[in-house]
Amino acid sequence: MIWKNIVNRKIFEQSGYFAQEIAGVIKMDANENPFTIQEPLKRKLLEKMSRIDFNRYPVAGAPELRNRYAKYFGVDKDMIMLGNGSDELIQILCMTLKGKIKGVLVPVPTFSMYKIIAVNTGNNVIEVPLNKKFDLDCDAIVDQIKENFPALIFLSCPNSPTGNLFSRAKIEAIIKKSPGIVVIDEAYAAFSGQTLLPLLKKYDNLIFLKTLSKLGLASMRLGFLIGNKEIVAQLDKVRLPYNVNSLSQIAADFFLDYHNEFSSQVKEIIKRREELYLGLQKIAGIKPFPSQANFIFFSCAFDSDRIYKQLVAEGIVVKNLNIPPHMPDCVRVTVGNRKENDSLLRALKSVVPQ
Ligand SMILES: Cc1ncc(COP(=O)(O)O)c(C=O)c1O
Repeated sequence: MIWKNIVNRKIFEQSGYFAQEIAGVIKMDANENPFTIQEPLKRKLLEKMSRIDFNRYPVAGAPELRNRYAKYFGVDKDMIMLGNGSDELIQILCMTLKGKIKGVLVPVPTFSMYKIIAVNTGNNVIEVPLNKKFDLDCDAIVDQIKENFPALIFLSCPNSPTGNLFSRAKIEAIIKKSPGIVVIDEAYAAFSGQTLLPLLKKYDNLIFLKTLSKLGLASMRLGFLIGNKEIVAQLDKVRLPYNVNSLSQIAADFFLDYHNEFSSQVKEIIKRREELYLGLQKIAGIKPFPSQANFIFFSCAFDSDRIYKQLVAEGIVVKNLNIPPHMPDCVRVTVGNRKENDSLLRALKSVVPQ
């Protein structure tokens, strides 16, 4: 068929992102916040949304919202850009930064969209395995920097799926050696209680990504890119004019209006994470790794494909991650509310071989 000949070969060859959709299950696979907005707050949000002029485009570039978020993150308003989720901002980065130096470097395993988007936007991808402690292999990364001069290096802090923070000294060493931009993706930073944002004052080849997806507003698709003004000005030319729709802009304002509410959910999730970790530790054959995020990565002493399927049969979806050679038979599970975590632990106990 003719279409096979005209699809970009690299896109044709890659499998793309697979978002599992199984109706009526406990979703513990996508690192969402398990708590939804309750009444009366929900009503307040919907009232604001009902005042939208649906026949009009959203506010282009959302300058007021940018101002508010700039204050929230403690940066200048020209240093911030809003995206339709941080996925869109990753795409904008991969489309824009391709001067004389080429390619995107990612540690593995990490958030799969970095590679997918890099390939889709015509970049070479350099993959450098994490070390046995899931930290960055700084020497190997520096070797690749010297050989391939990547325009972009993506570092997820905390990293998904492993849940740990990379060593700050290694991150800084990589920033210093990088000829291009280092992107620190802080999608899960709230759950670690740490941010590297102050490093923006020290290095100008640094960009941060943030998102509201893990903090209770995944449906609204709101991501933030923060970096030096000169780069942000260039990236902003690639952003589509109305990339953040009116509903999402209202939701972003709402997040700041009720920030304390969302912060208390983060605290609650951190408590549940520690309980879930202890519960997983007690199951023979399951080895959970300490997490600074809203999910826990664990290895199984048995076939994780089978565990995954049996959990689905029990009504629970987790992320099955078979990452040979270092991480075969691994699973990433999102921290749920107490009931969801208890259901997971109960189901896991019943499906692991005795
Ligand atoms: C590390 C990391 N960055 C970015 C994203 C995407 O976030 P968004 O929903 O804002 O596109 C995810 C989503 O799972 C993620 O794990």
